[in-house]
Amino acid sequence: MGAVLVTGGAGYIGSHAAHALRAAGRDVVVLDSLQAGHREAVRGLPLVTADIADTAAVRETIRRYRVTAAMHFAALLSVGDSVAAPARYYENNVCGTLALLDALVRESVGLLVFSSTAAVYGEPLRTPIAEDHATRPINPYGETKLAVEQALPHYERAYGLRSVRLRYFNAAGADPHGRIGEDHRPEEHLIPRALAAAGDGPPLVVFGDDYATADGTCRRDYVHVSDLAAAHVLALAALEAGKPSGVYNLGNGRAFSVRDVVAAVERIAGRRVRHELGPRRPGDPAVLLASSERARSELGWEPIYEELDVIVETAWRWHRSHPRGYAS
Ligand code: UFG
Repeated sequence: MGAVLVTGGAGYIGSHAAHALRAAGRDVVVLDSLQAGHREAVRGLPLVTADIADTAAVRETIRRYRVTAAMHFAALLSVGDSVAAPARYYENNVCGTLALLDALVRESVGLLVFSSTAAVYGEPLRTPIAEDHATRPINPYGETKLAVEQALPHYERAYGLRSVRLRYFNAAGADPHGRIGEDHRPEEHLIPRALAAAGDGPPLVVFGDDYATADGTCRRDYVHVSDLAAAHVLALAALEAGKPSGVYNLGNGRAFSVRDVVAAVERIAGRRVRHELGPRRPGDPAVLLASSERARSELGWEPIYEELDVIVETAWRWHRSHPRGYAS
């Protein structure tokens, strides 16, 4: 087994996966443009600063580090931005990925773990959502992830590239050892915003309380980033053991409302989360809840940070030690 190329390995989920691979004894090389990623998140691992669309740099990296498998995280990820600027999303997430796949195929790298999302399901018809649920994205971000997902079986038939597609629900929390964590600019996600509002950040705006849920706010399936990272290591091991390509949801199978998250942050931080009610954010489904039975039974995935308070606690520790993210 050669090294694993981790694109977007300086980002939030990618850095946790890169370090998890290293901890599992694998050789890793991170390739990241550092447009959104953080050099500090890669500490201790080789980093090539390049864009996935730079085929020459990707091919050179594959040869130099003797790469035999790839994990592909590099992507734009804001749903709202994708509606405002779809061209950037298609360019980066679809064209960029096709360029990466071309480099993999040309260099005979035959295994890929692809970072996908619950956004491929759009507004769910039923919950919990299993992998065979209809895929009907409601924004360009979800469309671009689905477009790549749909290309992969064709790449396998034509070029022998085997792949696992992992559909994350709401990634949250931070490395329990406190070395790496979530640092998006701007930060749009609920838990870091609620943590900031418990400190000296702006008050949290709750996006709507008139949904058809018990307390009227949206419910989401929060899954710890280290559990996601572990799933990537398992998915790669399955591919390397000759298991077939596949698609897996990654969530805890429990949904918490925005108000539940606010209450959890208040419990953990021991401070009030200043918040106010705002309008709904367009494109937010009322409930996203995963069935991850397939990942559990086929990959042997067992999340260990399932409790919301534990997830929030790791995020809070990171937030306290890095109030300005990696710039702290
Ligand atoms: N929310 C607020 N206020 C905020 C931020 C979020 O009330 O300031 C609410 C949202 O409306 C939502 C919940 O908190 O109900 C979680 O929002 P996040 O932005 O943290 O996460 P999303 O559920 O919107 O996003 C996740 C992934 C995306 C993926 C999407 C699929 O981060 O990559 O699910 O719908 F596309």
